[in-house]
Amino acid sequence: MQVIRFSDLCAQGKVAGKRVFIRADLNVPQDDAGNITEDTRIRASIPCIEMALKAGAAVMVTSHLGRPTEGAFKPEDSLAPVARRMAELMGRDVPLVSNWVDGVTVAPGQFVLLENCRLNVGEKKNDEKLARKMAALCDIFVHDAFGTAHRAEASTYGIAQYAPIACAGPLLAAEMDAISKALLAPKRPLVAIVAGSKVSTKLTILKSLAANVDQLIVGGGIANTFMLAAGLKIGKSLAEPDLLAEAKAVIEVMRARGAAVPIPTDVVVAKTFSAGAVATVKAASDVADDDLILDIGPQTAQALATQLKSAGTIVWNGPVGVFEFAAFENGTRTIAHAIADSSAFSIAGGGDTLAAIAKYGIEKKIGYISTGGGAFLEVLEGKTLPAFEILGRRAAN
Ligand code: 3PG
Repeated sequence: MQVIRFSDLCAQGKVAGKRVFIRADLNVPQDDAGNITEDTRIRASIPCIEMALKAGAAVMVTSHLGRPTEGAFKPEDSLAPVARRMAELMGRDVPLVSNWVDGVTVAPGQFVLLENCRLNVGEKKNDEKLARKMAALCDIFVHDAFGTAHRAEASTYGIAQYAPIACAGPLLAAEMDAISKALLAPKRPLVAIVAGSKVSTKLTILKSLAANVDQLIVGGGIANTFMLAAGLKIGKSLAEPDLLAEAKAVIEVMRARGAAVPIPTDVVVAKTFSAGAVATVKAASDVADDDLILDIGPQTAQALATQLKSAGTIVWNGPVGVFEFAAFENGTRTIAHAIADSSAFSIAGGGDTLAAIAKYGIEKKIGYISTGGGAFLEVLEGKTLPAFEILGRRAAN
């Protein structure tokens, strides 16, 4: 999809002296005291802001934080901790402006952060009046919030409809490019790893990927349901027996295309779900009635690692076992290192996946790590995200 890129506008000298409104995703996790516990999204948003400042723009940036009640400010909804962190990272003052919808004072070369946009009445429902007011604040609207690209809200969608120019910021553009490389024009074989506790939450993703990928590696509770579908016993492991028909359909679709869903040949089981539980490796056909499957076995992990090493493209969402417990982390660790060592282009996303990547220290060896949670999952479902749709439309007219 063709969109206008903010970097191009900057390179063409079209940004100097303009009012630039950047929608970022600064929705970062905080502890009970309001301290930011993980700042990747703040760091990832800074290049766009610096690009705009360098180009001589008057810069406004906003984001949502959490899901506050519109029109009812509470101190914990404030972007103040984000402003402080951003100021530290950028080495400059980051003034935070409240009640900004009716007008913002900011001069070229200056940058202000606009308070939590979800406090504005009409934001969630993409109210036209609100969106038009926001659009009137700027000459150029920059969507740089991939994490919120699946939402059609006033600050992500409506403003893009009405702003004089609407374009993609460098983070959104990088995410778009990585997704296109992985899913639209992948170097084959294309291998996807989809893991998580429930088939039901990822069924659309499984169906969508089944039509495209060469290998669909399933893990966690999802793999248990697929093992059941393959006629194996899974003891008292987490599974969704009512979705067996859906799992079988995915296997069939893949088989008909000459592609496959590899079913584990061995597993690591325990009698209880706990960090101290005794881990036993068993053949997948030997799982007892009181066993809980908590990881794939070493033989399966090795076989998958071999496949991953010869992949052309890898899409990774979800750890394949309970990697938080040392006795059940071998599968996820083996797969993580196989992805890191593979020459394939890899893209990874999702909270647990990012935690696994950090645990095994392979950040630099992943082709692209997405900042999106729900947005990344919707991309895997094959949906066109509202952000891409509206920016594509604005580029065309
Ligand atoms: C996220 O954390 O996934 C994004 O910031 C979107 O947040 P939302 O689910 O509250 O829209």
